[in-house]
Amino acid sequence: MDTTIFEQVDGYIGQLLAPEDSALKNTLQSLASNNIDNASISPVQGKLLQVLAKMCNAKNILELGTLGGYSTIWLARAVSQNGKVVSIEYSEEHALIAQNNIKNAGLENTVEIRVGNAMDILPQISAEQRAPFDMIFIDADKPPYVEYFEWALKLARPGTIIVADNIIRNAKVLDANSTDEKVKGVQRFNTWLSNCTQVTATILQTVGAKEYDGMAIAVVNH
Ligand code: SAH
Ligand code: DHB
Ligand code: MG
Repeated sequence: MDTTIFEQVDGYIGQLLAPEDSALKNTLQSLASNNIDNASISPVQGKLLQVLAKMCNAKNILELGTLGGYSTIWLARAVSQNGKVVSIEYSEEHALIAQNNIKNAGLENTVEIRVGNAMDILPQISAEQRAPFDMIFIDADKPPYVEYFEWALKLARPGTIIVADNIIRNAKVLDANSTDEKVKGVQRFNTWLSNCTQVTATILQTVGAKEYDGMAIAVVNH
């Protein structure tokens, strides 16, 4: 597939509406200098998360999968004053790098990184009565996406926006015989989502700077 045109247009949109400041650029640089694959969302996707956060006047956001904190910074900049972002990260190395990037962005009082397996941390967050969250961004490992979304529903309220990243995977989701655990995880998720009556949802294909992929966007029904 010739994706040059999508990349060019993504760059055009990004320059206009999602320019990166030094905190965001340094965040991507921190991944490169630590030899960590850049699975961060793109600038235009970061702006999409901000638009969604503002649409629901988000003050309390939950993220699964921090990596270097790139998406976390976009989200934290969208929460209103006294807003909070709780971001769960399995890797201690990633969490340390992210914490530094978040401090560089001046957001250390807005963001709380929780280190551990999301499946262990989610029950803790539930017990701490941090819910309901106004927006939840699911972007950690792909096989348990259904279980993550089920947790998201428990931690949500009517009107909460739930976004799940990387669910098209270069169109590999079309291959019913795929043996890739990530693909199988998101196929199971997409089918499950289509049967979930608690939300109104769609999937947005994402093209441009990042690999061809997609994001599920859902709102919890009243
Ligand atoms: N949201 C980030 C990208 C996240 S990449 C951004 O757009 O900037 C996925 C992250 O999920 C990686 O850092 C990985 O270490 C983390 N992860 C993988 N499995 C996890 C798990 N079980 N619980 C929490 N985090 C996990
Ligand atoms: C993968 C994870 C991501 O969050 C992403 O944006 C791209 C790829 C991955 O695990 O392959
Ligand atoms: Mg992702």
